[in-house]
Amino acid sequence: MIQKHLQELAEQYKIKVTYLTETPSTNDVVRDPVYKEADMVIAETQTKGRGQRGNHWESEKGKNLTFSIVLSPAFLAAQSQFMLSETISLALVDTLAHFGVEAQIKWPNDIYVDGRKIAGILIENDIMGDRLSRSIVGIGLNVNQRDFSPELPNPTSMSLVTGTEIDRGAVLKYFYVRLSIRYAALVGEYMSSIQNDYHERLLYFEMPHTFKIPDSTTVFTGTIRRVEPSGTLIVEREDGTLKGYLFKEIEF
Ligand code: BTN
Repeated sequence: MIQKHLQELAEQYKIKVTYLTETPSTNDVVRDPVYKEADMVIAETQTKGRGQRGNHWESEKGKNLTFSIVLSPAFLAAQSQFMLSETISLALVDTLAHFGVEAQIKWPNDIYVDGRKIAGILIENDIMGDRLSRSIVGIGLNVNQRDFSPELPNPTSMSLVTGTEIDRGAVLKYFYVRLSIRYAALVGEYMSSIQNDYHERLLYFEMPHTFKIPDSTTVFTGTIRRVEPSGTLIVEREDGTLKGYLFKEIEF
């Protein structure tokens, strides 16, 4: 059934869409130079699905969306590469809202609903000089899976949130609509609108929260004040000082 939607997507956006029943990782397939701007590879299951920080991405066969898209944001400075991640996160949150799921973004790029993770993004960038040349955007979105491995900390899905079965193809098509709109803002360098919308949907933004420094016993209360275009998270400590954290430097 999803194939019909995929064919429509390919025709509407004049892109190459490859559907696979099984593959190690869609991020690896779409890396092939035959795939150009906005082309997509989608798989019903991945045997070596990758997550952030070297984690494995688990997804029940045929229930969810696991796909990767190629983008060529050559206009984006390498030091602002996190703007692409913000753009993708926003397109996902927009899509979920359309299907009745109110989601937030957990820095750097997890999508959460009521404290549970519904989607993850893995972006692998190629950089040439001081610009991005090619980005592989991998997305895992839990759509109709209802039972998860107890080892996963706090998963959820669109179906668990809404109580209904969701048409995966319709979700993917709507995601492309939102991605086109959000990506156009990035191309048009409407950076502040992307930044504002990202902050607006950011979990724990401007509210005191407990943070932990990985591999240490340090725990402190702080408030997220902003995320820089580089991806650095700026947290205000209780003594009023501001400190920036990179991806692996802080947990919450
Ligand atoms: C995360 O939250 O850790 C990121 C998860 C990203 C998973 C997707 S599924 C499609 C693409 N292929 C992969 O191997 N990973 C990404």
